[in-house]
Amino acid sequence: MLITRLVLKNWRNFKNIDVHLRERVYVIGPNASGKSNFLDVLRFLRDIAKAEGGGLQKAVKDRGGMTKLRCLMARKDTEILIEVEISERVDTPATWKYSLGFRSEGKGAQRVIVSRERVEDLVNGAVLLERPVEADKSDPEMRTQTHLEQINTNKNFRELADFFANVTYLHLVPQLLKHADQLGGYRLEDDPFGQAFLERIAKTPEKTQESRLKKIEKVLRVCVPNMRDLRFKRDEIKGTPHLEAMYEHWRPEAGWQREDQFSDGTLRLLGIMWSLLEGDSLLLLEEPELSLNEDIVRQIHKLLWSMQRQAKYRRQIFITTHSEALLEDQSIDAREVIRLEPNKNGTLAHETSEEDLKLISAGYTISEVILPKAKPAKMDQLNLPFQ
Ligand SMILES: Nc1ncnc2c1ncn2[C@@H]1O[C@H](COP(=O)(O)OP(=O)(O)O)[C@@H](O)[C@H]1O
Ligand SMILES: [Mg+2]
Repeated sequence: MLITRLVLKNWRNFKNIDVHLRERVYVIGPNASGKSNFLDVLRFLRDIAKAEGGGLQKAVKDRGGMTKLRCLMARKDTEILIEVEISERVDTPATWKYSLGFRSEGKGAQRVIVSRERVEDLVNGAVLLERPVEADKSDPEMRTQTHLEQINTNKNFRELADFFANVTYLHLVPQLLKHADQLGGYRLEDDPFGQAFLERIAKTPEKTQESRLKKIEKVLRVCVPNMRDLRFKRDEIKGTPHLEAMYEHWRPEAGWQREDQFSDGTLRLLGIMWSLLEGDSLLLLEEPELSLNEDIVRQIHKLLWSMQRQAKYRRQIFITTHSEALLEDQSIDAREVIRLEPNKNGTLAHETSEEDLKLISAGYTISEVILPKAKPAKMDQLNLPFQ
């Protein structure tokens, strides 16, 4: 399943956007244009739907409350609206449509209430839920919860709730893995920074583990040609999980290295690739180009695609990026790019225009055609003290 359309109203810096999405979504835009906020809406749906510690109230509270979430440009309209369409496959008609509107109750407790919630089964043309329902009117408490988070009310659209609950966000921070011992065990909920990455590998059945690491090693060879025999190993004394690989170099006695000796970029790529092979749900990736040499960044799209192709289930991925090198790759489908443009009236989200698609199919790259529009407008006029 994949999200093929996203409509937002008053979500953080997005006052109104409506975009179609594909199997990969490259979210580009200047600093602070809302790339992370764009991904966050899907983490928010996950936080509502997830089985443990889920729910609308907590999801809003964890983000600092409605005053932080509601778009500052929203003026009178107090409602935040999220609407998604979901398809089984890219380029096939949508099968589900889910809308959720919510706002602040405006009384002392500052609870959040559901202003509307709607689930449409588009295959059978049936509206499975249309709130407010009678129960919402007779018992106002009902309106503090969505039906996504209630297993007794989401029976007919459990598939949809599960899809949201399994959304994964990954912004792997190599230092947190490398210095796990010194940092102690503290970890954020849902592990956004990939600290549990090695444990996830450890928990995977041995055969699957080996076959995944083999696939990863093969693809990773493009970036780290002297690395081989990537394998999982438990520390014999401490029992901690590790990855290690053999590095061939000019010395005759090539050496085994552990993940704390891998380069940051290698470790991040490893985490991303593992995630692509691991699940079937939507994967959100922040800036995969970080810590990587430009020549490798140029290959990222191919690396991702190669992993997606080898996976049992192909995950939809949303990728935020700044990188010109990444977007130079001519094998990226320009329809996969969503360009964010900050505006006085909230950030706009653009699909690639017909005109730009023509230029790109005529041989120009996304970096040449679309990226220049995603640069900060006044960059040239910046009066930097060291100039
Ligand atoms: N409720 C809101 N209304 C308007 N703007 C917001 C709101 N919440 C956050 N922002 C703005 O969003 C921007 C940060 O977006 P972010 O997604 O982190 O950007 P990026 O990832 O593209 O660098 C900041 O400029 C912040 O002021
Ligand atoms: Mg960001």
